[in-house]
Amino acid sequence: MTLYRLDASIRVAGSASGELASIVEQEWLAAHPGDTVVRRHLGTDPIPADAWPLALAASQTPEADRTPEQRQAVALAATLVDELLAADAIVLAVPLYNFGVSQHIKAWIDLVVTDPRSAPGGAPLLAGKPVVLVTVRGGAYGPGTPREGWDHSTAYLAHFLGTVWGADLTAVEREFTLVGVNPALDEFTDLAASMHTDALDAARRAGRALAATASPGHGQGEPAPAGASV
Ligand SMILES: Cc1cc2nc3c(=O)[nH]c(=O)nc-3n(C[C@H](O)[C@H](O)[C@H](O)COP(=O)(O)O)c2cc1C
Repeated sequence: MTLYRLDASIRVAGSASGELASIVEQEWLAAHPGDTVVRRHLGTDPIPADAWPLALAASQTPEADRTPEQRQAVALAATLVDELLAADAIVLAVPLYNFGVSQHIKAWIDLVVTDPRSAPGGAPLLAGKPVVLVTVRGGAYGPGTPREGWDHSTAYLAHFLGTVWGADLTAVEREFTLVGVNPALDEFTDLAASMHTDALDAARRAGRALAATASPGHGQGEPAPAGASV
């Protein structure tokens, strides 16, 4: 079986989203030793910004008249969709940047959507596929906080993965990752530590559930594993 891991942090060392995705990955490998993990790191290997308009232009251009750049963009979109379809389970690690969706993950979604296999009206691209969405935020956005409602990334991603693409989605979230980095947040040190511990636990649970849900025998009578489905 294959686990597909997609990272969107702009850093590799010290990535909080990467830490949680690695735990999900470890739990997967503990249950599926020797399985393949296919990785794509959008932070270090971004989708070219012009791939999306090129793929869209290609879709309105007869095959024989397409430019080499258009063909390359169409091929990249196909590769991304191939990766998703070949996966038995998926984990995405996506930070909050500037209160919105990471441009790297948005460029990836936009390009995937250009492939005919994700066209509206067809089967949802990830129908029933178990997916863990790891999201991390430097600040905190819970009910009653000064910035409640300022996270314009998480709901969008959950909507796209779960509602548009039909994934069986579980969210693992961590907030206050900038505590210890930004001195203005020092008063939240204990709360941030507790949030970190909770997120590590949630990642372990989500990884185990992902591995169980994607197992070949799953769905043949045994109860579904508990997860924080969104
Ligand atoms: C350019 C930039 C913009 C950011 N914008 C936000 C933001 O709007 N809200 C927030 O809570 N954290 C913000 N952060 C903090 C990140 O969400 C936080 O550092 C997170 O841990 C990054 O993910 P990573 O640890 O996986 O790299 C920002 C970080 C960077 C580098």
